[in-house]
Amino acid sequence: MGLKIGFVGVGGISQRHLGNASKRDDIEILGHADIIMSRAEAAAETYGGRAYNCCVDLYENEKPDAVVICTPPYAHGDIEEEAAKRGIHFFVEKPCAVSLDLAKRVKEAVDTHGVLAQVGYMYRFAEGVLKAKELLSTRRIAMVQQHFYMPGMPAKPWWAKLEMSGGQLTEQSTHMLDLGRFLAGDVVAVTGRTARVHDWTPEPGAPVSDSGLTGAYPGFTIPDTTALTLEYASGALGTLSCSMVPGTQWDNGFRIVAEGLLVTIAGGNVSWAGEEQGSVAAGDNWASYVLYDFFDAVIEGRDATTVPYDEGIRSLAISLAGYASQEQGGAVISPQDLIADVFGTALG
Ligand SMILES: NC(=O)c1ccc[n+]([C@@H]2O[C@H](COP(=O)([O-])OP(=O)(O)OC[C@H]3O[C@@H](n4cnc5c(N)ncnc54)[C@H](O)[C@@H]3O)[C@@H](O)[C@H]2O)c1
Repeated sequence: MGLKIGFVGVGGISQRHLGNASKRDDIEILGHADIIMSRAEAAAETYGGRAYNCCVDLYENEKPDAVVICTPPYAHGDIEEEAAKRGIHFFVEKPCAVSLDLAKRVKEAVDTHGVLAQVGYMYRFAEGVLKAKELLSTRRIAMVQQHFYMPGMPAKPWWAKLEMSGGQLTEQSTHMLDLGRFLAGDVVAVTGRTARVHDWTPEPGAPVSDSGLTGAYPGFTIPDTTALTLEYASGALGTLSCSMVPGTQWDNGFRIVAEGLLVTIAGGNVSWAGEEQGSVAAGDNWASYVLYDFFDAVIEGRDATTVPYDEGIRSLAISLAGYASQEQGGAVISPQDLIADVFGTALG
């Protein structure tokens, strides 16, 4: 038989991963755990396997080789630890946590039990991104400009709360910050400013949205607009801007200015101009590659995944450095110092 897997958290994004996992003949889906039992049951009905409302029951009864964890950013820790101590490898959606303290707990479990862990930074796998990495590897990068704009907030209760989602900067823009690290190397200094420019207060008595994007949500405590400046270890500078105000246009991407080349990334599509010119469109179902690569790592018994847990920690630390800078009136914050403060040392 093939690789035996389970799913933990079968809400929005898990549907993509369930669909992709079910397309592979070498994957057997044994079960699904969600604190909302009806979601676990619906996943079991569509994709096979049994339904659970607790990940430990899934682990104990089904004994999967690996699990795909798609819970919200705040709901991490026990799920990964319980998997790791049973020798169950895991894929975890980004961001891997909302705090470095929690990420430390999970990293210790991963290291202690020697399981494979992959963080779902899917942009790293797009064909065009890999071509951009090759083109940039021989050139000096000057500027990395990144953005993520969204016409509203996903209508999920946890998104509206800073301690649960980490806000757009941690929850969503982490994709861009991680891709910047992948293409241009580590970020060593961050300054950040956050703002709330839209009034998110719902009209009295108005129904609370429960799907799509919304412009009003009760208990909204996150910024809707953020600007970071970034300094890379190479000496390159960068910016990240993100905003989620209603009515704007959805847009996320990059421009990288390097000697002899301007690289533009829009979603999974990449183009470049300057001394050379070209483009690579995102392949069919390119967003599946990060999950398939994890499955292959487990099946092949690789020593490490392509996006190991430590990489999730490094990218998370950039978002947290942005917030720390805002809290300290625009101070320059080193993500490595934040990591060292919590871990007692730099990551290996
Ligand atoms: N890579 C991408 O493009 C992408 C896109 C969307 C979301 N995501 C990430 O995926 C994660 C989940 O986002 P979502 O939009 O699917 O959220 P969601 O709220 O739609 O789904 C999360 C599910 O987890 C369940 N859950 C919560 N706590 C649990 C627990 N302790 N045990 C078991 N189940 C639990 C919830 O009941 C829910 O069904 C987030 O980290 C998000 O950033 C990634």
